[in-house]
Amino acid sequence: MKQGIKIATIGGGSSYTPELIEGFIKRHNELPVTEIWLADIEEGKAKLEIVGNLAKRMVEKAGVAIEIHLTLDRKEALKDADFVTTQMRVGMLDARMKDEAIPLKYGVIGQETNGPGGLFKGMRTIPVILEICKEMECLCPDAWLINFTNPAGMVTEAVLRYSNIKKVVGLCNGPIGTTKGLAKMLEVDSERVYVEYAGLNHMVFGLHAYVDGEEVTKEVMSMLGGREKDGITPKNIAALSWEPDFIERLGVVPSGYHRYYYQTDKMLRQLLDDAKHEGTRAEVVRKLESELFELYKDESLAVKPKQLEGRGGAYYSEAAVQLIHSIHTDKRDIQTVNVRNNGALSSIPDESAVEINCVITKHGPVPLTVGDLPIQVRGLVQQIKSFERIACEAAITGNYQTALLAMTINPLVPSDTVAKQILDEMLEAHKQFLPQFFQRESITK
Ligand code: G6P
Repeated sequence: MKQGIKIATIGGGSSYTPELIEGFIKRHNELPVTEIWLADIEEGKAKLEIVGNLAKRMVEKAGVAIEIHLTLDRKEALKDADFVTTQMRVGMLDARMKDEAIPLKYGVIGQETNGPGGLFKGMRTIPVILEICKEMECLCPDAWLINFTNPAGMVTEAVLRYSNIKKVVGLCNGPIGTTKGLAKMLEVDSERVYVEYAGLNHMVFGLHAYVDGEEVTKEVMSMLGGREKDGITPKNIAALSWEPDFIERLGVVPSGYHRYYYQTDKMLRQLLDDAKHEGTRAEVVRKLESELFELYKDESLAVKPKQLEGRGGAYYSEAAVQLIHSIHTDKRDIQTVNVRNNGALSSIPDESAVEINCVITKHGPVPLTVGDLPIQVRGLVQQIKSFERIACEAAITGNYQTALLAMTINPLVPSDTVAKQILDEMLEAHKQFLPQFFQRESITK
């Protein structure tokens, strides 16, 4: 029988990798990870080497028996892995920049997970994830796929519907970040706070919030209104203040991403303004990344640098490592993850992916039944699920009309005509990473 745990991290050259390594180091006593394989593509080789060497220094300094392997051969990484974590970005930051900037030209929020940007990131990513799933079937059929790649909900939906992999969990740092933010706002330790989350990735609501088992949802909703910084919004989103009367009556805790839907005009103005002054988020991240990689190169650095906290993915390692730990040890604690709905949320089809509180067992996350979503948020969540499903279909078929349908029904896109203009420009811009749209003659406009 195999002794230690083998982790394969696809997109291992990411600047987030030190987060993950730190998490495995901290939990090493309870989670015997012995090998971490960081895999990346040829274009990511330089980054892989820099971040991989930092990872090696980190485990050495911590004195833990984890071997760090760097490879450009994904299959070598996947072979006999117990957990496969995916954190890649197809087309890298250049593609993200296009996702964010092109829609802005048409007065539309691009975003890399929710709007037109999310559609395109999904269409670039899903075929690659499905390829990884096929490889996993042969090379590590018993492994769990822990997907962190955005749009995480859409990607999980695609794996559930279009692959043979059943052991898949989509993961986001959002719910952990929200719970910690609420705890701070309520001035209590985050361990005492429990939030019942339900919805979709980046479209999740905290339906009820409790401190030591006492419901505090009303107090939370009245505290959230009118604040300049609400403390629950990740660093990548402008934390514009909520209308107090609206948020109180909404009655459920929104995620930072809901601002794109409930504050569309203000967020658009903010994004246009940011783009003019500091560039889109991709450009801000590019600067941050180059600073980070400069630090990572420093041979005397052997811990995760503080500057990584400037990224939106805070608590990423906590989410990933605690999930892997609970699956491995059959811990049966409650975590918020993206899984097959299985009837837990009656507003969403059983076979679709939802982001929801689950009991984490050795045989996987078991979603806790919620029933219906409250009427005030149900329609939007269902609309986004329709968007995600049609986007998955477009990603797989490379069908132009299906992509146009997905683009048009996205609530951030104002009309079919604007949808078509954005779609056409983005298809051209991302051509290199969308072979499914360009390879076959049958797919015509
Ligand atoms: C949030 C989201 C993540 C996303 C990240 C982007 O935390 O939950 O899904 O990847 O922000 O952060 P970045 O620093 O890349 O803009």
